[in-house]
This record gives sequence, structure tokens and C-alpha cells, in this order.
Amino acid sequence: MTRTSAEIASLLRCPITRGPLTPLKPDELDEANRLAAAGALRRRDGTPVADKIESGFAPSSGRFFYPVVDGILALLPDSAIFREAPGSRPDGLRDEKRRVRDFYDQTGWQPTPEGLFSESARFGDLRAVTEGYHRNCEERLLRRLPAEGGILLDAGSGPAQNIRDTGASRRFRTRICVDLSRVGLLAAKSRIGDRGIYIQADVADLPLADGCVDAAVCLHVLQHLPPDEQGAALRGLHRVLKPHGRALVVYAWGYHSYLMNIATLPYHLIRIVKDLYLRHAVGRPQARIYFDAHGYRWFRRQTWGFPLEIASWRSLSTPFLKCYVHGGWGGERILRLAVALEDRFPHLMGVVGHYPLFIIEKA
Ligand SMILES: C[S@@+](CC[C@H](N)C(=O)[O-])C[C@H]1O[C@@H](n2cnc3c(N)ncnc32)[C@H](O)[C@@H]1O
Repeated sequence: MTRTSAEIASLLRCPITRGPLTPLKPDELDEANRLAAAGALRRRDGTPVADKIESGFAPSSGRFFYPVVDGILALLPDSAIFREAPGSRPDGLRDEKRRVRDFYDQTGWQPTPEGLFSESARFGDLRAVTEGYHRNCEERLLRRLPAEGGILLDAGSGPAQNIRDTGASRRFRTRICVDLSRVGLLAAKSRIGDRGIYIQADVADLPLADGCVDAAVCLHVLQHLPPDEQGAALRGLHRVLKPHGRALVVYAWGYHSYLMNIATLPYHLIRIVKDLYLRHAVGRPQARIYFDAHGYRWFRRQTWGFPLEIASWRSLSTPFLKCYVHGGWGGERILRLAVALEDRFPHLMGVVGHYPLFIIEKA
């Protein structure tokens, strides 16, 4: 990490006490590793700690600390390591979140033989005919981000494969990657290296200090949170922005995306039959990912306390692209029309299309 431990600590907030954190002193770290080697260190849920701890951050009480192992700071309440036995407590991560974490650790961010991530191979559309359409969507995000800045928060970063922020297109000095998936964070670290800060944490309860980031992105994440925590996640993004900072959130309407779902009914029917076949005939069900989206009206009904603009990130769903967009069959013309409508009527296309873009600005 190019930032010092003290600089990193100034960005953090304890997910248990909600107070500040400070780096462990060298003698505290030695003591922690000595206790870990003797099997005497326990996490909040009572499980023993066996890994070599590289550094750590503790609240002012000093009763517990959060460890850094392999460059990943574990900042979930359950990752807190107690110096004295806290007694066994239940795992605080909700079942829905545990399912998401396990899906991405065990399947989503595992590589395929072709060198892709399983989730991109399964849910993405990697055909050449749609490449320009996808690039256009990413540029839409880049245009709305500041040209340069100190810190970009990537909430639910996975391997940080979206938002080109490397090489010539590098805009931010530091990218904070937050994710539940340790496998995703390790992949992000191998892409971004020392310029990143990697935190295993919950985006619904961001363990970051108020007003500490210049910009934030949260792409394809919110719909994987339990519905009753999605509002808290948006408010948390607003809280950690500096004044005049901006957060971009790409969401998916899912079952509420009526146009796309009707247009792709045959695709969904085939998928259901394929799932049933794999489950019952082959006995190898596809790993499922937890997903529960709100509709547009829910977002309209909430009192946010800040302006929440809705625009279009991408109106066409992946099933729609796979069904109707093929080279030489007028596919390019469909994509050109979609881009023109998304650019000309961003709000309308955000509402009726598949992937809205929420824009949050801090006054
Ligand atoms: C569809 S992937 C998107 C990854 C990345 N933002 C991108 O656009 O490529 C969703 C990611 O969100 C993470 N995620 C889901 N729920 C989360 C939560 N409550 N806290 C932190 N990360 C979460 C998952 O582990 C996964 O890496």
C-alpha cells in the first residue's frame, strides 16, 4: 500500500463501535502473532486465528483488532480478533450475504480454463458484436467521474475489472476496494497492486469515515443485498463522499424490468428447463446467486435527504442481446438505436430499461 498505516486508519471506522481505528504498534503485532501461533487468538465468532497477521487496526478500547492478511484488511464485525476470549457468538453476517460471499468465493471469481472469471463467462455477453455497446456504457460512467482525484471507492469491487483506472486512464491516487469476497479482493489486488486498499467489509455498513472519498462507484452490487438494506447502502455511499463528491451506482431492475422480461420470455423458459435438467437429470444444479431488486416506485417513495438522479447505464439486458443482437442480422442497428435513445432520454431509458444508473451528489 502506498499510503501509510496512519493514513489508512484515518479513512476507517470501526463497524462495531462506529469510532475511529488506529494501527497496531509493532509490539502489539508481535504479541498477536505469538498468541495466534499458540492457538490462543479468537475471532468474534469464537473461531481460532491461524494466519500470519501482517498488520491490524484497533479501536481506542484496544479490546480487539481487525487483521490484515495477504494485504486484505478484514473489517467485518465477525473478523474482529479479541485479545481475551469473547465467548462464542453467532456469525453476524446475514444468511443472504453469506450466500453471496460463498457464491463469489467458490464460483463467481474463480477462473475458467479460458482465463475469464466464471461470473463473466456465465452472466456476461463477450461476443464481438456487442463489444462497442459495452464500451459505450463504461465510457458513460467514466464521463461522469472527475478527471482526477485522491480516492475512488469501489464498493463491491470484485476483481475491480470495471472502470479503467490504470495506466494512461489513471485518475485517482488510491482506489479503495470493498467486497465481501476475499477471492475477489485478492484478484483486485493482483490488478491494482500498491495503489489499492483492500477491505473485506459489507457495503450496507461501510466501515469508512464520513466524507473521506472523492468519488465512489458501486456497480452491479446493490441488488445482491437484502432489500431492507439497499437504502442504507445508498445512504452510506453519500455519507462517505467528500463535499461535491459523486457516487455512481449501477442497479438492475430484475423482475421489475417488464419490457426486457417480456421480450426475452423464450430465453427465460429455456433457462428454466435447462436448470431443471441439470438439477434433476444430471444431479449437478447450477450455483445460484442471491438477487432481490426493488422496482422504480420503491426508490421514488423513499426520503433520501439528498438528490438521487436516475439515468440509463444500459437499457438492454444480456438475454435480450443474446436473443436479438447478431452480426449481419441488423444487430448493430438495434444497438445504435439503443445508444441513441439512452443518450437522448436518459431518465426514461433508465426507468424502462434494464440497468439504471443512480447518481448521488454531495452538496
Ligand atoms: C456482480 S459482482 C460486481 C463486481 C464489480 N462491481 C463489477 O462491476 O465487476 C457483485 C460483487 O458485489 C459483492 N457484494 C455483494 N454484496 C455485498 C455486500 N453486502 N458487501 C460487499 N460486497 C458485496 C460480491 O461479493 C461481488 O464481488
